[in-house]
Amino acid sequence: MPNEPANEKKLIILPGEGTGAGTDLLDALIHHFSDGEATISDLDPKLIKELREELERSPFFSQDMKNLWLMLEKALTKTGRNPGIDDQIRLLNLACGHCEEGSILPAFFGKGGKRVRQFAMDLRDREIDKARRRYNMTENLFRKAGIPRVREKDERNTVEFVADDATHLVGYGQVPARFDVIFIRHQNLWHDREVWKKIYEFVINRLEPDNGVLFITSYFDREHILALELLKTLGGNVLFTEQNPHTRELDYPGKTVDRHVAAIVQS
Ligand SMILES: C[S@@+](CC[C@H](N)C(=O)[O-])C[C@H]1O[C@@H](n2cnc3c(N)ncnc32)[C@H](O)[C@@H]1O
Repeated sequence: MPNEPANEKKLIILPGEGTGAGTDLLDALIHHFSDGEATISDLDPKLIKELREELERSPFFSQDMKNLWLMLEKALTKTGRNPGIDDQIRLLNLACGHCEEGSILPAFFGKGGKRVRQFAMDLRDREIDKARRRYNMTENLFRKAGIPRVREKDERNTVEFVADDATHLVGYGQVPARFDVIFIRHQNLWHDREVWKKIYEFVINRLEPDNGVLFITSYFDREHILALELLKTLGGNVLFTEQNPHTRELDYPGKTVDRHVAAIVQS
């Protein structure tokens, strides 16, 4: 992953801000971390300003998360599905690496008031360690800002970080048998097709049959096409796929952040 230049100019607009879209990222994060107790309008504007400045401190983070959020919103709408049972979503964030989106995903899927139980998993211990620290830092930011009841431990509304091989998940029984949402950011089919075939077999079979949705994003055009072809042969039905109009260029030709986003369900 490229490092962010320290002197990058900041001009970040969070989702919904000034657009009338009504999906403010900060509002969703406040909802997530306060366990639904607070919304942006309940809080001191000075505090809101400080939280925004904190979130925008890392320009690529805000930009990428804003774009991911908008793409997920579009993809989910196009599926016509409303994943989750009652007010609960079981979310698997697979091959999550250092998991930039660890707090954004439950905020996104929980914005309608649902409880989100997220399992974030990656093969590499070091990445999972970083992911856990990153999530805790964000949580602390909200706690320090005095957001009421920063996520009490409620087993229906948690984030668990698991360092393990996704292809072993079936045997371990350490995660739920079914998921309402499975998310794979920057899927990596090209790295090892056989391993990723096993991962995709797992995710297609573990989606809640009636309304479960798999979201994948890809860095490259060709890799995305190949992943969708493979998913179809494994019983996936691609309901939505689109090139992200706001994708950010990276250090390799043709490689950009969340270049493609797709939503897949069980056939
Ligand atoms: C291209 S990286 C994407 C990481 C992260 N999702 C992101 O967007 O930055 C692919 C990730 O897949 C993980 N991975 C590869 N094989 C895996 C497996 N069998 N089980 C779990 N994770 C795996 C790697 O450790 C790596 O972090």
